[in-house]
This record gives sequence, structure tokens and C-alpha cells, in this order.
Amino acid sequence: MALDILVIVVSYLLGSVSFSVLFAKLLKGIDIRQHGSGNAGATNTLRVLGKGPAILVLLLDVLKGIGAVWLGTWAGGWDSWIAVSCGIAAIVGHNWPLYFHFRGGKGIATTIGVMATLALYPALLAGILAIGSIFITRYVSLGSLIFVALTPVFLLFTDFAGPVLWTSIIIAIFAFWRHRTNIVKIVQGRENKIGSKAKGGN
Ligand code: G3P
Repeated sequence: MALDILVIVVSYLLGSVSFSVLFAKLLKGIDIRQHGSGNAGATNTLRVLGKGPAILVLLLDVLKGIGAVWLGTWAGGWDSWIAVSCGIAAIVGHNWPLYFHFRGGKGIATTIGVMATLALYPALLAGILAIGSIFITRYVSLGSLIFVALTPVFLLFTDFAGPVLWTSIIIAIFAFWRHRTNIVKIVQGRENKIGSKAKGGN
């Protein structure tokens, strides 16, 4: 029991390492949460710092999710409640980071790491459709929402039940909540498009 709690706490602390905040501070001496969309994530890193840092932030944020699930798997076994709790804890850390006044990102890159580790093929299929939607609409936020919404749907067609399915649903609820402003902006046609100048606000 003590080990279970420990790995969940470590996963939260790992998720709390906000690479976009760190890179923006390091490279430009700014707080990324005051620039672009104001989000501490890879998409806003692209707007504020450019392609190289954005790719690095994306990879590192994905790795946080993978690392957390591995940690949980080590402690509780694959497809266990501990493994999925560690994944959720990393996303919670990313969204509400302990080290950065609980103001983090929207959790999508870390979610990709978590879901790809827990259920590769459903996540891959959802990811392909999400990327397709980003190419068509140029809305990263819409692609993010498509990814989190479709992963549980595709999971229904697999043997995954219990922990992984429930986790994907919880994660989708988190993501929709974190993207509520993006959703309003998409509906109003005011959402930032990838490659365009950011309109600001979160
Ligand atoms: O993963 C974050 C993305 O979906 C939206 O980011 O900066 O456009 O609000 P942003």
C-alpha cells in the first residue's frame, strides 16, 4: 500500500515538471503563461519559442506519461489500478504543477504518453484521426479533443476493460474541462490556428 501511494505521488511530481515553462524561462527569460494562448504546453511553445523547443517539449511531456505508467506497472502490474492511477497523476501534475503555482497545461502530450503505453492501437488510431483533423482545420485544440474522445470509443472494440477504459474516460473529461475556453472559441471562430499569430487568452 505504501509503495502504491509512493509511486502515485512520484508520478504527480514527475508530471509537475512543466518543460514549456522551464524552456521559456531558460531561452527567453519569460513566463510562457503570459504569452500566446497562455497555456503551458507544446502548442504554445511552438507559438512563443518556435519549432525546435516545441518538439522537445512535446517529446518530454509525452515521456512523463510513459514514465509514470511504467512506474505504476512496476509497482502494481500491467493494466492495474496502480498503473492507471500513476498515469492520471502525471496528467494532474502537468495540469496543476506543484512547482509552478498549480498553473500548468492541458495535459494532451502527457495523455498521449499515458494512453499509448496503456493501449497502443486505440491511441494510435485516435492519434491518426486527430492529426488528420489538425491538418484540415489547423486547430490543435480540436485535434486534442478528437484524440481524447476517440480513444475510449476505440477501446470498446478491444479486450481492454476496467482500469484502462475508465482511465481513458476520466482523462477525456479532464481534457474537455481544460479545453472549455478553446471549445467556446472554436464555436465562435476565434480559436488560434496553428501557423497563425496567437490571439491570446486561455
Ligand atoms: O494541447 C493543448 C492544445 O490542445 C491547445 O493549446 O495553446 O492552443 O490553447 P492552446
